[in-house]
Amino acid sequence: MRIIFFAGKGGVGKTSASAATGMAAARQGSKTLVLSLDTAHSLADIFDLDRGLLDQNKGQPIPVADNLWIQELDIGAELASDWGEIHQYITKVLNATGIEEILAEELAILPGMEEISLLLKINRYVQEKAFDTIILDSAPTGEAVRFISLPTALEWYMKKFFNLERKLMKVARPVVQKMTDVPLPDDRYFESIKTLFERLKGVDEVLTDPAVTTVRLVTNPEKIVLKETQRAFMYFTLYRMHIDAVIINRVLPDKVKDKYFASWQKSQKKYIALAERYFAPLPLFLVDLFPGEVLGAESLDALGRAIYKEKNPLAVLHSQRAYELKKEDGQYCLSMRLAFADKPDIAVSRNSTELIVRLGSFRRHILLPGHVAAAKKARAKFAGDTLTVYFS
Ligand SMILES: Nc1ncnc2c1ncn2[C@@H]1O[C@H](COP(=O)(O)OP(=O)(O)O)[C@@H](O)[C@H]1O
Ligand SMILES: [Mg+2]
Repeated sequence: MRIIFFAGKGGVGKTSASAATGMAAARQGSKTLVLSLDTAHSLADIFDLDRGLLDQNKGQPIPVADNLWIQELDIGAELASDWGEIHQYITKVLNATGIEEILAEELAILPGMEEISLLLKINRYVQEKAFDTIILDSAPTGEAVRFISLPTALEWYMKKFFNLERKLMKVARPVVQKMTDVPLPDDRYFESIKTLFERLKGVDEVLTDPAVTTVRLVTNPEKIVLKETQRAFMYFTLYRMHIDAVIINRVLPDKVKDKYFASWQKSQKKYIALAERYFAPLPLFLVDLFPGEVLGAESLDALGRAIYKEKNPLAVLHSQRAYELKKEDGQYCLSMRLAFADKPDIAVSRNSTELIVRLGSFRRHILLPGHVAAAKKARAKFAGDTLTVYFS
């Protein structure tokens, strides 16, 4: 079982890279699903499929080649089947506060529900061993981060609050309900939450198991896109997901000699060098800007070759964690392995948002979460082959 998660800013080439990777995986004989997590679905368009075919098969996997399926989830249908009871209850509450029923139904889709439905879907495929490879074509960074943070947040809620809330409600409901028109949740509501949670069990382990799931960040050699990729890198690392490659897409080839593009080429080179500082020692895959849009099987094959060259797209392309950030005795500590380094060669400094590690001519920039970057003091220690920085 292999899961590859493509993430990045909107428009950088996530769907194209997902589809190309899916094609390459299927060619190796791996039963592959490319699952779109983005509500702005474009997977079918990239495969140049007839929309009519897709609408007939709404929300289900569609075969597009030998061993290859694509799926654009129908989130409305997933919500109805996963969230029936809970959605009804929230609608009732909103309705009781005077909101019209149709609007209440719409508003009762809370942030996070869609993401949980997607997680449920992934978990089901994993448990049923429905596919050998699942490629996740994710939504733009912000939503993807919310998506991966949900299992942790839910677990916390279930551990700390759920039972308490349920018990309290059992005791208080008969009395409190007399005092308010707003309907209080009955035990069926809590039972549904519990069932949902149970169906999610295990998904967190699967998504954070580096032998199963890896994240590939897709980016372009431009300032703003790269900044967002650096943030994504931080979030995925914090959620202990394993990033195994960064794909820098749409690089203007050197053979383009037109003066009009000269300054683009210069600035792209600068940002590619910067990307190395942000992401080394992860492999960076540079992919040229194609002469046209990436559409249909042939150009997806070409894109797959351009990304991976002789490498196996299904392999875990890099197996070391970039760094770990933990909280110990009220102090944040960030540790990273620096193989082959000597203590006198290492210089550590900070700016307002980043930790900068220099090792000879090599420089690594690590974006820090706000509350860590705000720490007044930082102290670095190098022992064995591990650099640890304590923030207090
Ligand atoms: N290397 C490339 N060369 C040329 N066009 C590309 C390349 N990669 C992606 N595209 C095109 O860029 C557009 C956006 O790509 P897409 O994969 O949909 O991005 P995302 O899923 O990140 O929003 C599409 O029209 C796609 O064909
Ligand atoms: Mg897309």
